[in-house]
Amino acid sequence: MVEFTLPKNSRIKKGKTYEAPASAKRVKNFHVYRWQPEKEENPRLDTYEVDLDNCGPMVLDALIKIKNEIDSSLTFRRSCREGICGSCSMNIDGVNTLACLCPIEDIKGDAKVYPLPHMEVVKDLVPDLTHIFAQYASVEPWLQADTTSPPNEERLQSREDRAKLDGLWECVLCFCCSTSCPSYWWNEDRYLGPAVLLSAYRWIVDSRDEATGKRLDNLEDPFRLYRCHTIMNCTKTCPKGLNPAKSIAEIKKLLVARR
Ligand code: SF4
Ligand code: SF4
Ligand code: FES
Repeated sequence: MVEFTLPKNSRIKKGKTYEAPASAKRVKNFHVYRWQPEKEENPRLDTYEVDLDNCGPMVLDALIKIKNEIDSSLTFRRSCREGICGSCSMNIDGVNTLACLCPIEDIKGDAKVYPLPHMEVVKDLVPDLTHIFAQYASVEPWLQADTTSPPNEERLQSREDRAKLDGLWECVLCFCCSTSCPSYWWNEDRYLGPAVLLSAYRWIVDSRDEATGKRLDNLEDPFRLYRCHTIMNCTKTCPKGLNPAKSIAEIKKLLVARR
């Protein structure tokens, strides 16, 4: 039976409010999604009043402050704080992004912080990435070559060939793009999604790799690749300024060219 509203146990309820100290002069509200499986309760939206005069400039700084000083039970992933590890991806004010690259001052009014959309939630802001990393592994993201490299030498590339990897190697596997893609929302069981396809293309276009034919065979599939309908949400949301939609289009062009 089709359900037009969320099931009762998925509806988000109003949670607790944690007030800022009376001395705080510049206060911003952070409404943060909370769901703790061990409690067997509906998800809720807790509100944390954060004193911006005692907080770093990014949304991740506010979350760390909340966890350290207000509510240690808040759970989220982070590591580098520099947009490198890709682990602090979440939905902030309706946009998938990295919390460590998202300035608080860019958010007008209250900040709303949710986990990446359309993913199973492990706890609070932590999505379950098991399936998407299995998809990543399925494109065998490492250099493959039957020939051996010259003794005591690296496999060299021309400057032009190396330049083809720009815009690809910078991907930090945050999955902001895949979780903003409507095709991925509806077909994540079979469609690889933009992050994984960009990674696949990164190896296809690498002049040192000798498995191009096998890689293209693996992608020539109505679901794994061709569920992309060029909606472009992926490129719009990428916090690293990459263009996964272009990578997908390039793979499609290579498949046409080899017919
Ligand atoms: S361009 Fe393709 S991969 Fe990107 S959001 Fe649209 S359908 Fe998804
Ligand atoms: S392409 Fe961009 S949004 Fe997608 S996983 Fe890589 S860095 Fe994240
Ligand atoms: S903490 Fe590493 S990308 Fe944000």
